[in-house]
Amino acid sequence: MPAVSLDQIVALAKRRGFIFPSSEIYGGLQGVYDYGPLGVELKNNIIADWWRTNVYERDDMEGLDAAILMNRLVWKYSGHEETFNDPLVDCRACKMRWRADHIHGVCPNCGSRDLTEPRPFNMMFRTQIGPVADSGSFAYLRPETAQGIFVNFANVLTASARKLPFGIAQVGKAFRNEINPRNFLFRVREFEQMEIEYFVMPGTDEEWHQRWLEARLAWWEQIGIPRSRITIYDVPADELAHYSKRTFDLMYDYPNIGVQEIEGIANRTDYDLGSHSKDQAQLNLTARVNHNEDSIARLTYFDQASGRHVVPYVIEPSAGVGRCMLAVMCEGYAEELTKPVPTEKLAAAAEALQAFLKSVGRSEKISAEARDALLARGTELSQALVERLPEVEQLLAMPGADQIELSKKLRGQTQPLIDEHYRTVLRLKPRLAPVKVAVFPLKRNHDQLVATAKAVRRELQATGEMRTVYDDTGAIGKLYRRQDEIGTPFCVTVDFDTIGQGKDPALAGTVTVRDRDTMAQERVPIAELEQYLRAKIRSA
Ligand code: GAP
Repeated sequence: MPAVSLDQIVALAKRRGFIFPSSEIYGGLQGVYDYGPLGVELKNNIIADWWRTNVYERDDMEGLDAAILMNRLVWKYSGHEETFNDPLVDCRACKMRWRADHIHGVCPNCGSRDLTEPRPFNMMFRTQIGPVADSGSFAYLRPETAQGIFVNFANVLTASARKLPFGIAQVGKAFRNEINPRNFLFRVREFEQMEIEYFVMPGTDEEWHQRWLEARLAWWEQIGIPRSRITIYDVPADELAHYSKRTFDLMYDYPNIGVQEIEGIANRTDYDLGSHSKDQAQLNLTARVNHNEDSIARLTYFDQASGRHVVPYVIEPSAGVGRCMLAVMCEGYAEELTKPVPTEKLAAAAEALQAFLKSVGRSEKISAEARDALLARGTELSQALVERLPEVEQLLAMPGADQIELSKKLRGQTQPLIDEHYRTVLRLKPRLAPVKVAVFPLKRNHDQLVATAKAVRRELQATGEMRTVYDDTGAIGKLYRRQDEIGTPFCVTVDFDTIGQGKDPALAGTVTVRDRDTMAQERVPIAELEQYLRAKIRSA
């Protein structure tokens, strides 16, 4: 079962070093996050997989890495200066600011209807270029990476001598001054996009739009989000972005957040190349574009067959790295039973939960809202306690729980059971896992075990194909649990048999490989270990 609450992911991400709030020691910065030691690995693996699938494994793609800062005119002709706006209202009572189209005339914070008229708010960040701050010396931080591709269309076409259809892929930072950044990595102000602009002959665009939809769904499946977990939203005309003829949004059902966009696949027609071109009147454009007297180029393609210059149509699959990472973590997350909980201990935990809920029901210290939420979640848990016992931790972290005296008793009853009988596991596809292999010596104070384990680690790491770590900071069971939690697919243990000092001399030179998902253990000769692991990682 995937994560049931976003809190589970937020807690794991902080505890194990995937994600930290930006500038935390100064109180943080809303809507901005840092990727920690494991987060940067997972993020890099997602990007590498996307690049491999979309650039290396196709014959019709080129890569690009355009600068974040661009001439301001890019954003004038792209339409973002004029249309990249959200209508905003301020609540006169509590002074909060909201998107008018999200709140139906009532302030979600205080319930007041005393709101200002909606005003447009441009979501692009401005920055100063050069030492003199005059009205013409600013630039924007790009709100999408796509424009770097459009304005380089002619450069890439000339340099690569491509024929239509072909595409340009780019991964990079984008910035949006979101009014209400929220839901962890889901809506942030600084994020990374993985974007493709795929250029096609006009008239073939609808067919290519469908093909890209299929290709992108296959990629999501490959990284661990099955097709059955994605909904395709055919965006209605009145919700389309200013450049789009039709857009399919791929939607994932995030815990707490609900069904939300993870990727947009838009048909941008000839809007962008046409907007950035001179001599627009001669180009037979179908899109309505702003008249352009500033561009020095026609962004066209010479079609040998017809002897005409055409402005290609564009299909754009665009996904956010952060939303992708959040989805794969939610999808792969599980808290599961590893060995049966003795009946009497389970009964004692159930009793402690009932006593806690009774006390919540009677408490006058907590708000009605907190009480209802605690009772609802607690009752839900009590109905399937053996499967959901680890969720008691989240129950106890909910607002108001710490005001209830019996929360200590409940924690005391359940925490030891959770530690002993359950594990948290992140079933990431091995190709995405931040660490592929962890190597342990059975004993950390035994020189030969330690030296052998370190040598095994060094050799596996030297392949350059699998990040491998060494750990000897606890008993093997505890080390397995630490690796399960971060999604490490394989753990290798060096024991006395490995070094020829065990009971079975035939096992000399072999190690135990333990599989994260099945928890099954297999004996593998060190000489074959690299090949064994490589095959498993590739095939999964
Ligand atoms: N070039 C097209 C474009 O930017 P978009 O639908 O605005 O289209 C594409 O953004 C993707 O970028 C989204 O599907 C989402 O994954 C990601 N994204 C957009 N805004 C985001 C934000 N504020 N925080 C995190 N990811 C965001």
